[in-house]
Amino acid sequence: LAVVDIDLEGVEPGSRITLKWKGKPVFIDHRTEERIAQARADDDAPMIDPEPDAERVQRPEWLVVIGVCTHLGCIPLGQGGSDPTGDWNGWFCPCHGSHYDTSGRIRKGPAPRNLDVPPYEFVSDTLVKIG
Ligand code: FES
Repeated sequence: LAVVDIDLEGVEPGSRITLKWKGKPVFIDHRTEERIAQARADDDAPMIDPEPDAERVQRPEWLVVIGVCTHLGCIPLGQGGSDPTGDWNGWFCPCHGSHYDTSGRIRKGPAPRNLDVPPYEFVSDTLVKIG
């Protein structure tokens, strides 16, 4: 589907969900205050692909990224359960060891770019249109 609507009502802070958009996984993280603070505190840290957190989100509590590692396209772990989330509490790509932070930025490993942000808009407080 070129456009996907998703209702985020009931997605609790601290939980992450995965949906499919154009055949790719999209990760949505209902970020806690702590995760937002981690992302913002690191805005000036050395980065492989420098980008402030505020430019990657429309609403700080919702991070929306394409769940495809920018190295060779594996799906990073970290969406839930006992998944490893990497050294920066974001996502970890097991294929060659890329670590992404709570903003989906690449921090360590061979991936050259941050996780991509798909086009999206909030239609209401909890309804998001992706695409
Ligand atoms: Fe993710 Fe290589 S595909 S680190």
